[in-house]
Order: sequence, then structure tokens, then C-alpha cells
Amino acid sequence: MGASHGTKDVIVHQPCFVDQTAFIGARSIVWYFASVGYGCRIAEEVVIGSGAYIGRESTIGVGTRIQHGCFLPNKTRVGAGCFIGPNVTMTDDKYPRAGNKDYLAEPPIIEDGASIGAGAVILPGVRIGASAMVGAGAVVTRDVPPGVTYVGMPAREHGNDLKVAMKEERYRQGRG
Ligand SMILES: CC(C)(COP(=O)(O)OP(=O)(O)OC[C@H]1O[C@@H](n2cnc3c(N)ncnc32)[C@H](O)[C@@H]1OP(=O)(O)O)[C@@H](O)C(=O)NCCC(=O)NCCS
Repeated sequence: MGASHGTKDVIVHQPCFVDQTAFIGARSIVWYFASVGYGCRIAEEVVIGSGAYIGRESTIGVGTRIQHGCFLPNKTRVGAGCFIGPNVTMTDDKYPRAGNKDYLAEPPIIEDGASIGAGAVILPGVRIGASAMVGAGAVVTRDVPPGVTYVGMPAREHGNDLKVAMKEERYRQGRG
């Protein structure tokens, strides 16, 4: 199934598809039924979950986790330390029509440290700012500023961000 990678300590579970031109960094894992397209650059310690689709010439930064069943269109840029929840769908064609090869492709940009909750949909050209959080099931139609949490459909800022950060901290300390 064409698995290829740059170093020996990469784990590529079969069956999956990794294009021969893709580079996968050290200590990264590609799980069953994932697809990594032509020219992708996957950094070190990345996990690509089962059934995830990484479109051609996409880049994924160090330590990012892409969960089961995600779709990333061609040339998507995902930074370092990002969490992309299960079944997140990113898009790049605002007005999709079957067979239109000349569409204006606008892949999303996910900046370092951002998290995207399960099942969220990211519309074409949207930028998710560094350390931002997107809630589960959101439909993100606009850029999300760095460090801010967006939820809903269409996604909008979720309450007071300081309160959300405090809740997250309490949760981590087991005092949720
Ligand atoms: C967005 C999120 C971080 C908000 O956290 P929070 O502020 O602590 O959320 P709370 O549970 O205190 O809920 C606060 C309010 O926001 C609403 N809310 C929470 N998450 C929401 C979401 N994803 N979409 C819409 N509304 C949401 C709640 O219904 C609640 O509204 P209410 O006060 O009217 O009842 C969190 O709910 C979320 O979606 N996390 C992602 C989970 C996920 O997908 N993980 C993937 C790993 S498996």
C-alpha cells in the first residue's frame, strides 16, 4: 500500500496509504485506513488517526494529534501541538460543483496549539488562531482569533474566555 517515510521509528499501520512522496517525521504514527497524499510534510511525533484523510501537499506540525476520520483538503496547514478531534471536516471549496477542476481552493489554516472539537466543520479559508478552541459540532465560518473559544452553528465566541480557561484548569486539577 505504498507506505514510505523518512526514519525507522515511524509506525505506519497497514492497511493504509502513504504516498511515496510524503515525508513522515520521527516517532510519528499513522493508523489503519488513513490516507496521506502526495507531497505531505508530517513533522515529528504526530499521530494520524484511523481513517483520516490528509490531502496532498498538506503540512502538519510537531506533536499534533489528528483523530479518527478527519478530512483535511489539499494544502491544509496545521501547526504544532494541535488537537484535531474525531471526524473534523475541513473544506476548501466554497461553492462546490461536481467536476469543477478550476475551483478556487482555499484550504484552512490551523495555527500552533489550537484544538478543534469532535465533528466540527471548518469552512474554506478559515484561520483558527494559535491556542484557540473550537467546540464539538461547531460550523466555523469566520476566522477564530488566537486563544479564543468558539462554539455553535455558525460558530461564535463562547462566553468569557477567562472563565473558560479557569474551568479548563479546574478540570485538569480534577476539580471539574
Ligand atoms: C467548547 C467547550 C470547550 C466549552 O467548555 P465549557 O465552557 O466548560 O462548557 P460547559 O459544559 O460549561 O457549557 C457552558 C455552556 O456552553 C454550551 N456548550 C458547551 N459546549 C458546546 C458546544 N460544543 N457547542 C454549543 N454549545 C456548547 C453548554 O450547553 C452550556 O450552555 P448553557 O449554559 O446554556 O447550558 C466544550 O464544551 C467542548 O465542546 N469541548 C470539545 C470536546 C471534544 O470534542 N473533545 C474531543 C476529544 S474526544
